[in-house]
Amino acid sequence: MRIRILTNAAALAEVAADEIAGWLTRHVDRTIGLAGGSTPRLTYELLADRTVPWEAVHAWMTDERHVPENHPESNAGMARRALFDHVPATLHAVPHDENPQVAAADYEETLRRLLGGTRGGGPQPGLVVLGVGEDGHTASLFPGSAALEDNERDFMANWVTDKASWRLTATLPLLARARRTLFLVSGEHKAGVVAEILERSADLPAAAVHRLARDSVWLLDRAAASALSQAGT
Ligand code: 6PG
Repeated sequence: MRIRILTNAAALAEVAADEIAGWLTRHVDRTIGLAGGSTPRLTYELLADRTVPWEAVHAWMTDERHVPENHPESNAGMARRALFDHVPATLHAVPHDENPQVAAADYEETLRRLLGGTRGGGPQPGLVVLGVGEDGHTASLFPGSAALEDNERDFMANWVTDKASWRLTATLPLLARARRTLFLVSGEHKAGVVAEILERSADLPAAAVHRLARDSVWLLDRAAASALSQAGT
């Protein structure tokens, strides 16, 4: 595990862009799983100006809201506006279907083709970028939601009670197979959950992904790290 604490959100985004660009340049596996939400947007925007073999890069979404890509809430829409409209990489967006289970099953097949592996071995993600919610969710694995209990599927529809809506999300088995997991967390409002995960091994979805990760890297700004007892590296 590696923790880096950066001065502020802008510095975090610069370092995250460096980490991602470096990984995509160094590794033959040029797939990347992307988080939605607001934290990674600046990182994706900065990546548009980084020198990366973009033609060989294939990106997928670790989760999506149950909306079409042109909806303002779409994670893929955000990633496309921030980065994929500006570089010759391929973004594999989650298909939209009125039936979220159909959309999730289609995307699971896409991920099997994109990330290799078989049903037994399962797709093998390379680098995966994740955010963390104040409640400890990551991707769309929310506390108490059914997707947390599913050890069979790699990607599935998940009813999120607090949001009274369907989400589509990578599951723990898929995320656990990532070669590297990069968590991006910014802001004072995340300080409590960061300390819960990193110092108290809380029973939270993001903590489970962290524990299962083969190589977990946390990029925090000072505000998000402010409840940690030790300085971190
Ligand atoms: C989403 C994200 C979600 C996000 C966290 C943190 O669909 O919203 O994938 O898991 O990473 O909610 O969101 P912020 O970065 O906006 O705080």
